[in-house]
Amino acid sequence: MKNYVFSLLVIAAIFSYRINNIENILVAQPNSIDEKTQLPIPPILKPNKIINNQLFFNLSVQRGTTEFVKGSEVITYGYNGNILGPTIRAKKGHYINITVRNKLREYTTIHWHGLLVPGVMDGGPHQVISPDKEWTASFVVSQPAATAWYHPHGLGNTAIQVYKGLAGLFIIDDTISEKLNLPDKYGVNDIPLIVQDKRLTNEGMPVYLTSMMDIMTGMTGNTILVNGVINPYLNVNASKYRFRLLNGSNARVYDFRLSDDSYFYQIATDAGLIEKPAKLTSLMLSPGERAEIIIDFSKYEKGKKISLVSGSFNIIEFNIINKISDTTIIPEKLVNIKYLNPSNSKRTRIFNLEGMGFNVNINGKRMDINRIDEYIKYGDTETWILTSTAGMMGMGMMRGRGMMGNVTHNFHAHGVHFLILDRNGSPPRAYEHGWKDTILLSDREEVRVIAKFLYKGIFMYHCHILEHEDNGMMGQFKVE
Ligand code: C2O
Ligand code: CU
Ligand code: CU
Repeated sequence: MKNYVFSLLVIAAIFSYRINNIENILVAQPNSIDEKTQLPIPPILKPNKIINNQLFFNLSVQRGTTEFVKGSEVITYGYNGNILGPTIRAKKGHYINITVRNKLREYTTIHWHGLLVPGVMDGGPHQVISPDKEWTASFVVSQPAATAWYHPHGLGNTAIQVYKGLAGLFIIDDTISEKLNLPDKYGVNDIPLIVQDKRLTNEGMPVYLTSMMDIMTGMTGNTILVNGVINPYLNVNASKYRFRLLNGSNARVYDFRLSDDSYFYQIATDAGLIEKPAKLTSLMLSPGERAEIIIDFSKYEKGKKISLVSGSFNIIEFNIINKISDTTIIPEKLVNIKYLNPSNSKRTRIFNLEGMGFNVNINGKRMDINRIDEYIKYGDTETWILTSTAGMMGMGMMRGRGMMGNVTHNFHAHGVHFLILDRNGSPPRAYEHGWKDTILLSDREEVRVIAKFLYKGIFMYHCHILEHEDNGMMGQFKVE
């Protein structure tokens, strides 16, 4: 009976999805507005105090307004501004204090995604900041150069708060990265790209969860935003540029490539530089994942336009404006990765991500903040097997094929970084050879990862499709 009701729901979802699609075709898309906007660069957050190697920062979580479409102001959330947040930048060895004031009328938390910090400083669901209250995170930056980010992580309200605009970058530098002669002038030839999508009405009003499908597979929009604007362009010199890509979307997976299918070079995964640049024509990022890439525009003539695209979406257009002499390089060797030996692995754990909509679960369980799901010994190396099944409550016809197509999940853990041992028994994808904290899992995929647990406390693991996370596709592990 339960299955029957559920299958009716699924069919209703498919219908409403179809109808929505038709509407989307009939109405003029905000995305089709030709006007382009110059890419805004999130400012670097200035410390309000520096004592030796201690940096003190202030952030306030606040409501503001944004015009996604000219003439139509809508409510958005931001850190120290109307939407998104400033880029926090620190160096390995710095001692960081960030005081976060919640000026919203609802609770929030602030999580440092990709940062290795003790559990109590992690900003997950346990570190609630009530309205009008503040919370200070203090930690030492003890990891190599990387592009990390921060976003809310409240129990049940993460997806909507991110959708309303809460997200920012956290860039870590170290002496190794500084010596590589990579493009590293922030906002000049080192460009952050926070890629998100929203469903905008004709008037430029973002709407959220308007069909059953949004709840089933996560909220995807009809319009792409980069650093908070639609249809961005960037004037570039005919030289090398580094782009720090963040998929900050609730649920959309991007398959980035250049409009002329040219090569680009990946230099970093989620958690830092890789051993040597990977020459790629496409790169997939699921929600929460990052990659740093270098695009060499030197082969293009002045006046040429080239775009970063994903599927049929234009992400950003680059206009080549000048020939300049370029002293940056794409080094043959970037860093040494200290690989973890599987034979030192103390334990193997399996995490099966299953279901969609309100039935999402990991290993048959849904998030319970009063339950620790896994206990891990401090200092241990472990192998984790991550699997994904659509698992529609025994509805064979739905299992990963037929009407629903494939269901995507991904797996993110706090307080630890992974190396991928294999993906479905084969080597990881070309762009996954490095430290990761978020891993894409399409239906029925099996990914084996290895990690060493060097940070103590309670941490989350979850699907980073934010609607799935909010519906309980999350668990907790304790390192002690
Ligand atoms: Cu980006 Cu647990 O989060
Ligand atoms: Cu995280
Ligand atoms: Cu999921």
